[in-house]
Amino acid sequence: MLLAPPMPAQAEDIWQRGRDLFEPCRACHAAEPGAEAQAGPNLAGLIGREVGGDPGFDYSPVLADAFKAGLRWDEARLDRFLADPEGMFPGFWMAMRGIGSAADRTALIRFLARPAP
Ligand code: HEC
Repeated sequence: MLLAPPMPAQAEDIWQRGRDLFEPCRACHAAEPGAEAQAGPNLAGLIGREVGGDPGFDYSPVLADAFKAGLRWDEARLDRFLADPEGMFPGFWMAMRGIGSAADRTALIRFLARPAP
């Protein structure tokens, strides 16, 4: 990760906001490659990854079906998911309310796209 080019200042602010917003998610999720699944799947490399794509995690049927259908996480899907997880995946196991603020969702997505600075 040391090889990654430095981010412009404003992007860095958004990233740091995303990192702060991710703190409560860490109760259940790691975001570092190779970390073990906890109560929730590891979210390392999430953007571009299959939905339900942590091989170390036993997903709910709705996410297992999304995986089989070949769905992948991109920024647009993640944004809609964070706004209303249960609406996107009825029966989803994660007890999380949607994030109403578009700016907060964007910050989280920026962080998840690049969990190591
Ligand atoms: C109480 C534990 C818990 C917390 C807190 C939590 N999650 Fe989750 N999360 C889960 C579980 C469990 C799943 C798998 C759900 C399933 O299989 O239906 C999941 C799944 C996900 C997925 C889909 C992963 C994949 O591999 O497709 C994303 C993205 C996600 N969570 C993001 C977040 C974010 C962002 C936060 C914080 C805002 C958060 N979660 C907070 C438990 C949690």
